[in-house]
Amino acid sequence: PLIRREDYTPFPWLVPEIALDFDLGLDRTRIRSALTVQRNSAAVPNDMIRLNGDGLTPVEVKVDGEAINDWSMDDADLMLPLRGDSHLVEVITEIDPSANSQLMGLYASNGMLCTQCEAEGFRRITFFPDRPDVLSTYRVRMEGPKDQFPVLLSNGNCVAEGEAGNGRHWAEWHDPWRKPSYLFALVAGDLVANRDSFTTRSGRKVDLAIWVREGDLERTGHAMESLKNSMKWDEETFGREYDLDLFNIVAVSDFNMGAMENKGLNIFNTKYVLADTETATDGDYDAIEGVIGHEYFHNWSGNRITCRDWFQLSLKEGFTVLRDQLFSADMGSEPVKRIEDVRILRSVQFPEDSGPLAHPIRPDSYREISNFYTATVYNKGAEVIRMMRTMAGPEAFRKGTDLYFDRHDGEAATCEDFVSSIEEGAGLDLGQFRLWYSQAGTPKLSVRLDHAGETATLHLSQQVPATPGQAEKKPMPIPLRIALFDPETGRHDGEKLVVLTEAEANFSFDGFARKPILSINRGFSAPVSIDRRIDSEDLVFLAANDDDPFARYEAMQDLVVGHLREAISGSLDQAGISAGRAAIRKALSAILQDDALDDLMRGELMIMPSQSYLAEQMLVADPAAIHREREGLKAWLAGELGSELLALHDRAGSVSAGSDAAARGARKVRGQALAYLAAGDADRAARLASAQYDAAANMTERQSALVALAGLEVPQRAERLKDFYDRYRGNALVIDKWFAIQAQSLHPDALQHVKALADHPDFTLRNPNRVRSLYMAFAVNPHAFHAADGEGYRMIADLILALDPINPQTAARFVPPLGRWRRIEPGRAELMRAQLERIAAAPNLSRDTHEQVSRSLG
Ligand code: ARG
Ligand code: ZN
Repeated sequence: PLIRREDYTPFPWLVPEIALDFDLGLDRTRIRSALTVQRNSAAVPNDMIRLNGDGLTPVEVKVDGEAINDWSMDDADLMLPLRGDSHLVEVITEIDPSANSQLMGLYASNGMLCTQCEAEGFRRITFFPDRPDVLSTYRVRMEGPKDQFPVLLSNGNCVAEGEAGNGRHWAEWHDPWRKPSYLFALVAGDLVANRDSFTTRSGRKVDLAIWVREGDLERTGHAMESLKNSMKWDEETFGREYDLDLFNIVAVSDFNMGAMENKGLNIFNTKYVLADTETATDGDYDAIEGVIGHEYFHNWSGNRITCRDWFQLSLKEGFTVLRDQLFSADMGSEPVKRIEDVRILRSVQFPEDSGPLAHPIRPDSYREISNFYTATVYNKGAEVIRMMRTMAGPEAFRKGTDLYFDRHDGEAATCEDFVSSIEEGAGLDLGQFRLWYSQAGTPKLSVRLDHAGETATLHLSQQVPATPGQAEKKPMPIPLRIALFDPETGRHDGEKLVVLTEAEANFSFDGFARKPILSINRGFSAPVSIDRRIDSEDLVFLAANDDDPFARYEAMQDLVVGHLREAISGSLDQAGISAGRAAIRKALSAILQDDALDDLMRGELMIMPSQSYLAEQMLVADPAAIHREREGLKAWLAGELGSELLALHDRAGSVSAGSDAAARGARKVRGQALAYLAAGDADRAARLASAQYDAAANMTERQSALVALAGLEVPQRAERLKDFYDRYRGNALVIDKWFAIQAQSLHPDALQHVKALADHPDFTLRNPNRVRSLYMAFAVNPHAFHAADGEGYRMIADLILALDPINPQTAARFVPPLGRWRRIEPGRAELMRAQLERIAAAPNLSRDTHEQVSRSLG
């Protein structure tokens, strides 16, 4: 059924306490649950209680200590009549965790038991009002064989433990904080801990532990550092302190998402915990820091204040993503972090917002909530809150968040609660701004700068595109940080913030004897797409001189996007192509030479706009033409700037060892230089990449060398791929890289390689990381996925059909690449749509996949 936001009603019963008793076994776990329930005086009275279930049969049901028979099932839910005002409800259920391939609820992974309950996994363990506005205190007892499950963990504090005879033992956990069922967690397994501690600013000593499998302990140091940094940062930046004596993190290798913020017991995908320089790249280190921070920050933005219903998901996710972004920026390079975040937004969220799955950051309806854990809810959600912060300034914004935390602590709140707190606390008028919560679609902004006399006039107009279910849109407030550069001095007279609130407006600035050069949307102050009529000389100027690092990056991107767009449309003659390329060459050369730039930033400026971002710039894209022109430009630049790129690669190679920013920057520019060179002379690039691979003292350099080689038709390719596999055989996270590098490669036979890899003994549909490493890497590799005969589409459809019965949540994540069909040239569009229809026609499709496919077909 379709669930609607406007249909929200409070649950008729409160469940102040729940006691859970687990008799643990990998293929048989028995759960006794005892709920104290009371009528909710704030809700419409109901003499039935609906306890959600999913695939459960009650073994026994008792009310107030008496077994009852007048319960019934409504689909998968258990319905009980309750006549008084408060009762004790007891239910026994039995499940088989080893058969749980969906990885939702309680499941087995590598011989251990663990849980994932968000959003609706708790109902796969026991019957319960599985909705985020029912808050309870949890008491959990678990018992099982000691040799199999020496470690027994749940939320909160361990209050008792003991031997149970027959080689069995038990533990009892109590979480003093009220929480919704999606934050429940349990782990039982043979694990070891990296232990440390953190003392909060008010003096609470918190025991920290990161639990992993025996051999993984040496790779937990970075995660632990990141955790301690997160705890300190949240105190300093948002005034938030940790509130238990214990904080546990467990790493599991079978996990649908990145990680989960269960109260006091975060559960992580191993990918976001384990790292050492031999097996993890600099990017992996950053991702670990970001995700550790993200889950920790949820303790306040998510757990202390949770969501009233799942339509409010961005309340916790958008805000927590903003918090993790600000944290990572403070730990490393702020401008580089900003550029990376914008790149993710534009390559993942913009396509979502312009396609059939577009939805507002606060959706209005859904069939399967798992489908709404999207870049829109997360990343655009963070951008929307960032705009409030930009308009208020950081100090006033902090007053707003203080008020929010203060006012709603202990509650299940709404996005509206958040906005009104910021409005009042920060002293902003967010009346019209609320449209960002209700309207989907990326606003398109047209920008023109005129100059007459001493006055520069900025003309702005916005248009919010129609999206499914939202034909008409209202103009939204768009905060733009701008600067006007004097072309002669190369300086500007200070940054200004203009907020466009109407469909169109002009802003005038006096005192400009010469026409200034406009730098706009500095720092990417608004998540909009901008069409600026600006000369390429001005872009070359901004790429070399803008003092806002993001704007500098943007000028470089616009220069390349503008040129490639014209080249792809065929509207350029030979002279036009030469002029466009010359401008790019000049800008790139300046970036390569600029001694004032640090290498981390230089690496960012060197990154070419992705094919997906280029496709997004076109109404209807021809993936083959985009690929051809983009690679052609890279090859030309490799020829023109070959000696500069080689010199950079060489210079950076002498300082690329170590963990400081300079060494990281050196590794980044080496990777970029190789990427350009690989598009040029293949033999030269192969020699260089092989040498880098062989000498690599860390995964960052080994991987970037292998990425370059994987795209080339040279003998070194197979040799180094084999070396990599043999070297890291048995390390699942690195073997994931081995699959992904081949599936993502620029090699002309990438599609055939993926086909062969699907039969590799190490490939399995049972592990989401492995599935993503082969097939998601392939689905975002445009030249392979968009093979003209439609073979790539057929492979992804086959995957979806094979994976859907095993793990529907992960299967549904492969639908969006096919859902892009309306924006692809007609020949391919037809082939894509045909595959969607084939999936739609399959029997027994999961709710997850069915919803995504039917929305995609429109
Ligand atoms: N709340 C988690 C996070 O963002 C994500 C959990 C999503 N799980 C799911 N099954 N959809 O950190
Ligand atoms: Zn989150």
